Amino acid sequence: MAEAKKLYIKTYGCQMNVYDSERMAEAMGGAGYVETDSPDDADMILLNTCHIREKAAEKVYSELGRLRSLKDGNPDLKIGVAGCVAQAEGEEIMRRQPLVDLVVGPQSYHRLPQMEARTRSGEKALDTDFPLDDKFESLKSRGPKARRGPTAFLTVQEGCDKFCAFCVVPYTRGAEASRPAARILDEARELVDRGVREITLLGQNVNAYHGTGPDGADWSLARLIHALDGIDGLARIRFTTSHPNDMSDDLIEAHGTCEKLMPYLHLPVQSGSDRILKRMNRKHTAESYLRLIERIRAARPDILMSGDFIVGFPEETEADFQATLDLIEEVKYGYAFSFKYSTRPGTPAAEREQLAEDVKSDRLQRLQARITHHQRAAQDSMVGRRVGVLFEKPGRFDGQMVGKSDYLHAVHVDDCALSPGDLAEVEITASGPNSLAGRLTGTAAR
Ligand code: 5AD
Ligand code: SF4
Repeated sequence: MAEAKKLYIKTYGCQMNVYDSERMAEAMGGAGYVETDSPDDADMILLNTCHIREKAAEKVYSELGRLRSLKDGNPDLKIGVAGCVAQAEGEEIMRRQPLVDLVVGPQSYHRLPQMEARTRSGEKALDTDFPLDDKFESLKSRGPKARRGPTAFLTVQEGCDKFCAFCVVPYTRGAEASRPAARILDEARELVDRGVREITLLGQNVNAYHGTGPDGADWSLARLIHALDGIDGLARIRFTTSHPNDMSDDLIEAHGTCEKLMPYLHLPVQSGSDRILKRMNRKHTAESYLRLIERIRAARPDILMSGDFIVGFPEETEADFQATLDLIEEVKYGYAFSFKYSTRPGTPAAEREQLAEDVKSDRLQRLQARITHHQRAAQDSMVGRRVGVLFEKPGRFDGQMVGKSDYLHAVHVDDCALSPGDLAEVEITASGPNSLAGRLTGTAAR
């Protein structure tokens, strides 16, 4: 048998890219490739790129520049660019960087094996279509069904119809599309058979999910979650990322009634100022967002909220920024991501007058100080509590295991006889800089 060729994938950006990279590796597995974790001995290198914020494309070009010496040393090496930069820049990538053999957008990577074959015969291959065929269906049941770690991502929805004025996603990932529920349930069962105990449902606007159910009806995300809840061996369900306007009543209710749905919700608001929210085309107000969180907390009082913030959006005044700080004080996020606004070509806000860089930097620093404060407080408040922990891997010390709590905090337990995939109840004894420490209570978590 011919020796397997080696594929090295470097993934940038969001969790969906992580999921896509796994699928690309599986697809290429069917074409005789095995994954390697070093680019040096690879026969093919794929950069799975992100376009969400500035300098993304520049980062890709400089990474490609660094790969030149590898290609010089191995003329058979094929280099590909996948993901959202591939979608946005297309042929421009090959023009600017002739060492690229292949460019594939996020909606066409199921065609990678054929594209790779074309590059082997000396051609260049480019595919940035939005085909009508279901790429996940074409990818199904290829590659070996290897054992998996305890956690996995599962894409249920892609694309976005919201068109926030700062965001490239509706252009790079296209219009909202939901996968049929039966296919998602099949994939979830297969993941569980392979050792997975926690599934994070992914979508650019995941709570807008409305896929066809096995009964032919239109299923909401809540309905899908309830169906996943019935899978034996699956212990935890999470989902990300959501838009406030798509938090439907049944999804809020699911947080109170579905035991496997974890008490953690990522619900970006971006700004606390109604004036800026309007200019961002977010289609909600700070007040409506706060009332929504009240309702979610009524359904699940211990839920840990997480969010995204953009500072320095065009026309943001100090008063607007203060409104964002006020909202943070009210919500007290357990976790949050914050970014300086960066212009994205082709989006409406890119044409507007921009704020000075030092103003953005100053606001980001102040915002992050408040977020860090609340994050710390949320983590520290776990001390003395009993929480479920899904253990993922051994820790740094002999006998130590690390995992994630129901609230997504990293937790380590010393001197335990646990294995990856074990779920246990842990009493939290200390809160460190980046993780919690605890001891087993002797009660099985689930
Ligand atoms: N500039 C800064 N941050 C952005 N995000 C999306 N587009 C931009 C941009 N142009 C942030 C938002 C979004 C997260 C994934 O990235 O906060 O929720
Ligand atoms: Fe981008 Fe999210 Fe807005 Fe969609 S809802 S345009 S993905 S920020």
